[in-house]
Amino acid sequence: MSLRVALTALLLLFAPTAQAADSLDNRIGEALFRRMWVAAPTATQAADGLGPLYNARSCATCHPRAGGGRPPDPAVEGDQGVGYAIKLNSDPVYGRQIQSNATLGQVIEGRPRVTYREEEVRFPDGETIRLRHPTPVVEDLGYGPLAVATVMSARVPPRVHGMGLLDRIPAEAIEAEAQRQQASGGPVSGRVNHVTVDGKRQVGRFGWKAMHPTLDHQDAEAFSLDIGMSTPAYREPWGDCTLAQTACREAPHGDSKQFEGLEIPSTVIGLIDGYLRDLPPDGSLEAPKDKAGTTLFADTGCAACHRPSWRTAEDPDHPTLSNREIFPHSDMLLHDLGPALGDELPMGEARGSDWRTTPLWGLNRLAAKDGQLSLLHDGRARSVTEAILWHGGEAERAKDRFMSLPGEERKRLVRYVLGL
Ligand code: HEC
Ligand code: HEC
Repeated sequence: MSLRVALTALLLLFAPTAQAADSLDNRIGEALFRRMWVAAPTATQAADGLGPLYNARSCATCHPRAGGGRPPDPAVEGDQGVGYAIKLNSDPVYGRQIQSNATLGQVIEGRPRVTYREEEVRFPDGETIRLRHPTPVVEDLGYGPLAVATVMSARVPPRVHGMGLLDRIPAEAIEAEAQRQQASGGPVSGRVNHVTVDGKRQVGRFGWKAMHPTLDHQDAEAFSLDIGMSTPAYREPWGDCTLAQTACREAPHGDSKQFEGLEIPSTVIGLIDGYLRDLPPDGSLEAPKDKAGTTLFADTGCAACHRPSWRTAEDPDHPTLSNREIFPHSDMLLHDLGPALGDELPMGEARGSDWRTTPLWGLNRLAAKDGQLSLLHDGRARSVTEAILWHGGEAERAKDRFMSLPGEERKRLVRYVLGL
């Protein structure tokens, strides 16, 4: 029985009341997004191949309800956060990421943690706020010390709602936005992260440094680095295990003839992509109604990078998604936000202090669900105000303008951002 038929049968058995409006493929995609993969070997082969080293067993563990994650809370003994991962610039032993889990009999690479140093910042009107400076650490390293030249960069999982609409912004429009910003001669001068995949130079869009041109590529990397499973794009069944990690390389793997000689065949990637592509943004699909807020957002300089709207590409096969205005509040470009946010880990054309402008839609739901926010690439900011105060480099002027606003206006701008 093929995986797809098996899953369809399972869904029909266990979810007879699900809404008919959801397409079956999307429901299978969602089930795969939540699926807990298991270690090889198993009798069925349909769900095995996890690890041997991995961070989490499913996509949904790190992106619960397709949302984002958070860093560990240093005040809570043993807390690991949600999906918190430490990327490396290719350590000869540890590879590109610290895997914090392992299948039976394998040694974990270490436990990612963070420590914070607090700093008090004063607004011109006398109000104060505390920012926390993070230092990522890896406890219990399983394979000896990291190489001296190894650089660590901590990341929290971003929200994955609305990805399909971002995917539908024409690449030429993103290039044109970069050219417009560069020609303007101002401090805000975004750049495209060009990435070469399958021999083609493409516009990077996904990930904190826009290093993935397509959802496909992003998802395949997640299977390799986070879950330890092979896909058409990353064919090694041991994921991120290096030559130095012999036990991991020699462990049983889940490659199977039935699945293109892989653990995760292209059909599974396609179904997960399809599910993500159709997930609407968690925020509004309409233009913001608060006109005064829109003006304040633009006058403070936020809209220079957090570009309010885009028009999606023409797509006759998907009339509801085709040629429509969307409001992600991101220009999809890289900006140098200064050394305080920098990580010395270049990715493609993105340098250490370059980050992709984060789309702001959906922050409201996040705040309502979880109370405290975990914003910015490593989750260091606990509120929108903290996130703004970390902006430097090309965004220094906008931050200064925000800080000089009267307290009431600052609150108003934050409320506006939370309502997007
Ligand atoms: C260990 C936790 C973890 C797991 C498991 C995981 N992710 Fe992620 N995901 C992340 C992190 C961290 C990032 C940000 C990476 C970066 O940009 O450095 C991310 C980024 C993404 C993005 C890009 C979002 C954006 O705003 O550009 C997508 C899409 C995504 N993941 C989908 C998936 C899918 C599909 C799976 C399962 C195959 C998955 N993830 C499994 C942690 C995880
Ligand atoms: C020069 C471009 C630029 C300007 C100007 C700018 N931002 Fe950003 N913003 C970014 C980038 C890039 C990030 C991602 C930084 C990171 O994760 O380290 C970001 C992140 C954020 C985040 C965190 C979102 C999340 O989900 O993690 C918020 C909130 C935010 N910006 C709000 C604002 C507001 C409000 C203003 C105006 C006061 C502003 N920004 C001005 C580029 C900019």
